[in-house]
Amino acid sequence: MRMRAAVLEEFGEPLAVQEVELAEPRGGEVLVQLHACGVCHTDLYTASGADPSGYAPAVLGHEGAGVVEAVGPDVGSLAVGDHVVTLFSPQCRECVHCVDPRTNLCLAIREEQNKGHLPDGTTRISRDGEGIRHFMGCSTFAEYTVMPEIALAKVSPEAPFEHACLFACGLSTGLGAAINTAAVRPGTSCAVFGAGMVGLGAVAGCRLQGAERIICVDLSPQRLELARGQGATDLIEGGEWAVERILELTGGFGADYTFEATGNVAVMRQAVEAARMGWGLCTVAGVAGRGETLDVVPRLLITGRRIAGSSFGGVKGRDQVPVLVERYLAGEIDLEPFVSHRLGLDEVNRGFELMEAQDGIRSVIEFS
Ligand SMILES: NC(=O)c1ccc[n+]([C@@H]2O[C@H](COP(=O)([O-])OP(=O)(O)OC[C@H]3O[C@@H](n4cnc5c(N)ncnc54)[C@H](O)[C@@H]3O)[C@@H](O)[C@H]2O)c1
Ligand SMILES: [Zn+2]
Ligand SMILES: [Zn+2]
Repeated sequence: MRMRAAVLEEFGEPLAVQEVELAEPRGGEVLVQLHACGVCHTDLYTASGADPSGYAPAVLGHEGAGVVEAVGPDVGSLAVGDHVVTLFSPQCRECVHCVDPRTNLCLAIREEQNKGHLPDGTTRISRDGEGIRHFMGCSTFAEYTVMPEIALAKVSPEAPFEHACLFACGLSTGLGAAINTAAVRPGTSCAVFGAGMVGLGAVAGCRLQGAERIICVDLSPQRLELARGQGATDLIEGGEWAVERILELTGGFGADYTFEATGNVAVMRQAVEAARMGWGLCTVAGVAGRGETLDVVPRLLITGRRIAGSSFGGVKGRDQVPVLVERYLAGEIDLEPFVSHRLGLDEVNRGFELMEAQDGIRSVIEFS
């Protein structure tokens, strides 16, 4: 079929929205009609050429929500008409990681996905016979996409697409960091560094877990106000004083749980230093620049602090994203403040500009 898609032709150039060809789903694959898709830093990072593992031409986008239009052979868990959220972090339910509750890092299709291929090593997207690669296994800056069944979470049809798509990346990452990775206990203190999509999700996750005190640190007063709306009890302007301020707010000890959602290694260090001695757990969700390292005084660890990393919030996507969406539908999470701009596919580059200007949390592309 023919469809419109935003293609990364050359690194550092704007995406080119154009007609491309999309082939039928093969075994284990599903054709999805996209209805909404968030614009994320990871798309921009790849488009800019800064990501050394990036590839072009490719259709970018990885925060999609839509409806199953057709299923290929051997697809058992999805049917035409199902509402789905795309998962850059799949869940095959069979590999050694999927059957273990300790991780969500499914091993089934990693290698081919990293190359921009579907699991059989080929692409479904093409133009004049030339293959166009699938970004993060998703390629959701497009009217349709073909994805592996194991990379789609079936969610309630009640959820509006523009909100459902937020669960495809940063929101689930932040929620999951608090709910899964840290497993925040009720009545505790938390400190979240960064109030973008991931940090705000972490604030909401800490609140859902029953944390008593949720301190949020960010450079932007507007974003700190959004954090208050998600349940933050104390707001701190980011800077070298942040650790000291957190210690003051927590009786000199530091927080029971800290979260890093900036991608800045100096802030990661602050998040470790702001964790309480004895049992403080620092969860790192931010993605640092290539080659950067985290500098931590080992004594902080010997005296009982721990550091954990969290990819997609430890969320096993097919099982847990639907549950998170249900919690949103039950009124436990307010997503409206996160959608700052609604754009058409042709305006995808404007989405990048808004993101670079830190204008709002998420621009969402809506497909008519
Ligand atoms: N682990 C995962 O699976 C996963 C998934 C999605 C995103 N990420 C990563 O998480 C990070 C956050 O993503 P996002 O979409 O929320 O980004 P974002 O840019 O929207 O938010 C980052 C926030 O950090 C704040 N910040 C910057 N410097 C600061 C400082 N010194 N002190 C306090 N706050 C500071 C910024 O003001 C901004 O609000 C990024 O590194 C991203 O790559 C990780
Ligand atoms: Zn993303
Ligand atoms: Zn797996």
